[in-house]
Amino acid sequence: MTTCPITGAVSAAAADFDPFGDGYQQDPPAYVAWSREEEPVFWSPQLGYWVVTRYDDIKAIFRDNLAFSPAVALEKITPTSDEADAVLASYDYGMARTLVNEDEPAHMERRRALMAPFAPEHLAHHQPAVRRLVREHVDAFIDTGRADLVDEMFWEVPLTVALEFLGVPDDDKPKLREYSVAHTVNTWGRPEPEEQVAVAHAVGNFWQYAGGVLERMRQRPDDEGWMQYGIRAQREQPEVVTDSYLHSMMMAGIVAAHETTANGIANAVKLLLEHRVIWDQICADPSLIPNAVEECLRHNGSQAAWRRITTRATEIGGVPIPEGARILMVSSSGNHDPRRFEDPELVDVHRDDAADHLTFGYGAHQCLGKNLARMEMQIFLEELTSRLPHMRLAEQEFSYVPNTSFRGPEHLWVEWDPAANPERTDP
Ligand code: HEM
Repeated sequence: MTTCPITGAVSAAAADFDPFGDGYQQDPPAYVAWSREEEPVFWSPQLGYWVVTRYDDIKAIFRDNLAFSPAVALEKITPTSDEADAVLASYDYGMARTLVNEDEPAHMERRRALMAPFAPEHLAHHQPAVRRLVREHVDAFIDTGRADLVDEMFWEVPLTVALEFLGVPDDDKPKLREYSVAHTVNTWGRPEPEEQVAVAHAVGNFWQYAGGVLERMRQRPDDEGWMQYGIRAQREQPEVVTDSYLHSMMMAGIVAAHETTANGIANAVKLLLEHRVIWDQICADPSLIPNAVEECLRHNGSQAAWRRITTRATEIGGVPIPEGARILMVSSSGNHDPRRFEDPELVDVHRDDAADHLTFGYGAHQCLGKNLARMEMQIFLEELTSRLPHMRLAEQEFSYVPNTSFRGPEHLWVEWDPAANPERTDP
């Protein structure tokens, strides 16, 4: 057993901490409730990371991106076998710095060069297309009385929106879904050695695919899309928007823009249907939806944890931390910290500070796509609460792709009586 690099000891609970097990997967904030109370900063020997679980400590880390570098944000959390590494190398895999794992001053220069497409006026023009897509998907199953919302709609709509936002031609979506899950497992999971090779092939193919799309985009740099915007920005500032950035971002961007939001809406609908009174409240008063989205992101967000590495010896919440220490901030736990949110287990769509959650990160690297994600989640809820207010969760067990960070149910079965659909009873 590894021991704490500072004290040479770990508590029993810290030694048991396993973010790949079912306890963490089902409910990360509940799984680390002991830590929030007793040991808010602890060394995890199984992970080789310092784990931080209180709101103020996590926010302080996010705020100081010089002492707490994001360089490890996309690093493999589980070192892989030589065989898997050789597979990745055979695809010339070279995921490098994007935005989310770039240090200053390069990061802010690049963020400024690339942020215009995220401005509200640009996002507004995606709104009608998102609404149309959601409506079409609901049309396809509204008369069936039973649906797995993840398979029928929650992964495909955010993926389609992500591809449109990035400017990627509408491609083989099931393949991209498979690649994205492989990237999640490769980066934030703990695959067994035999699974590592299959994952490495999928990630290698994803890398090659991203390179191929980028090359095609370079032939049509004036098309719409964030990647084309990046290609044009490269002409003005080649040292800021590099080739390596564009290739890495092409791959990471699909995951950042797609899986986060797909998981986010699945978690939100699950939470709301588990709290029927709240679901009924927002069906009766759709003006509650924007804050309901924030409350769902706080209570059951799709980003469970995020990573940093220290660039110098420092401290977190009074605990000395050495230089070069890897940190796992369990942001979902911070969102349940009673020191910050009153009665944090309560789902309260009237909560006036729900949007202070840590699910989008905080500070210089805070999620650039947060308003696109919010818009998509709001439209999903508007359409589902108006067209299927009577739907309920079906009996089911929930499963999650085991990893530290990207969290959402793999399936979400709901049922309703089609004869009671508002469009039939009140056409
Ligand atoms: C960064 C979460 C949707 C693009 C991040 C970070 C988190 C996050 C935790 C890192 C923040 C930090 O280090 O402080 C989420 C969640 C989403 C979501 C929970 C959905 C519910 C999106 C979408 C896009 C996007 C839809 C793109 C269209 C980005 C980018 C960054 C980022 C480009 C890097 C920003 C930087 O480092 O400057 N996101 N994200 N995200 N996200 Fe999101």
